[in-house]
Amino acid sequence: MSIIDLIEKKRDGVELLTDEINWFITAYTANDIPDYQVAALLMAIYFRGMSRRETVDLTLAIAGSGDQLDLHDVAPFVVDKHSSGGVGDKTTLVVQPLVAACGIPVGKMSGRGLGSSGGTLDKMESINGWHFEMSLAQFKQQLAAIGLVLSGQTTELAPADGKLYALRDVTGTVASMPLIAASIMSKKLASGADAIVLDVKMGSGAFMHSLDEARQLAQIMVAIGKDAGRQTVALISDMNQPLGHAIGNALEVREAIDTLHGRGPHSFWEHCLDVAGQMIMLAGKTKTVAEGKALATAVRDQGLAWQKFRDMVIAQDGDVTQVDNPDTLPQARYVEPLLAPCAGTLAAMDATAVGWACVRLGGGRMAKGDQIDHAVGFILPAKIGDNFQAGDTLGTIHANDLDKLRQARADLLAALTWSNDPVPPLPHIYEVIT
Ligand code: URA
Repeated sequence: MSIIDLIEKKRDGVELLTDEINWFITAYTANDIPDYQVAALLMAIYFRGMSRRETVDLTLAIAGSGDQLDLHDVAPFVVDKHSSGGVGDKTTLVVQPLVAACGIPVGKMSGRGLGSSGGTLDKMESINGWHFEMSLAQFKQQLAAIGLVLSGQTTELAPADGKLYALRDVTGTVASMPLIAASIMSKKLASGADAIVLDVKMGSGAFMHSLDEARQLAQIMVAIGKDAGRQTVALISDMNQPLGHAIGNALEVREAIDTLHGRGPHSFWEHCLDVAGQMIMLAGKTKTVAEGKALATAVRDQGLAWQKFRDMVIAQDGDVTQVDNPDTLPQARYVEPLLAPCAGTLAAMDATAVGWACVRLGGGRMAKGDQIDHAVGFILPAKIGDNFQAGDTLGTIHANDLDKLRQARADLLAALTWSNDPVPPLPHIYEVIT
């Protein structure tokens, strides 16, 4: 088989065969195909799409590119969650310890930043020493010992996703439904969860801009999960504005810590509860999502979820003194306010533009292998529907370079739409797909 044949087939809108998809993933994992040819194939997939059969084949091939964990010798029932990607989405950092503190093991494989969307692994690497690389034996050992693991694609687990993910990040091929579905579900299948809650984002800061697209993505991922024998539920949640207030790696870790202490933004906490409630119910700990949310609130109030977060930081060699005292997390040299340019109601936000503004500040990668500046980003409490007078503070910009700070200010102001009429606040959740 030849990669050029596959690129040309897909370019011309012809379906790839199961054998061809398997060959491509095996050869790319073995470093037998260069990135430039895979980038061309990814772009052809971006434009031509994939059938349901091709998407399932791609998912299974990526999941099978490394080992596939069976966790039942260390935990009878493991739950996991995954977001389809958004701006300011630090949900995992709160939800995983909440659910683990309810006595439910959570073994999770996360990702780095992807396009305009931040990545859980990059955020956690704001903490000195914290790492996600671990052997399968260590994954299991940590799950048995403390009930939570936050890992990433490694050479052992879904290695093909690690390579494709890094390439998609810098080749404009992220926002493709089959590539997102295969990337997410391959990781979920490989990491051995019995139940999976998918947080499918919809809106201006998501890869799926309409409810219809988000529903299609949710449906195919739920179907892949169920076919693989995993209980799978998808929430379609709003991403027309950043989640919570913080955007940027260390700033988001700090907001997650505040939220675990009961001091985080209310809307973000509500979102965490929606996801945690589903996970707790799927694990059979409660009969309803409402009871799951009540249990999650109780373990937060008792400090048990915070304790789990600390345990995970320590187990993965992070400097726990930094999470105990978040002032010691990376801090930007310049912190300047973002002021409202006019009086009015905030009517809309281009949240993807906000995400790219953070990437350009240094909070994400413009090229493969770029170093991330963990300190930079925004605190943006202004939400759609809020009223402001000209000159009111909308938020703050955290930067290490004054030119980049000026550019970020212009980018942020250009991302906001104002109205003289009242604008209703946005819902958190649009649909639940089971
Ligand atoms: N999260 C992933 O793991 N992959 C994607 O493609 C998008 C979000």
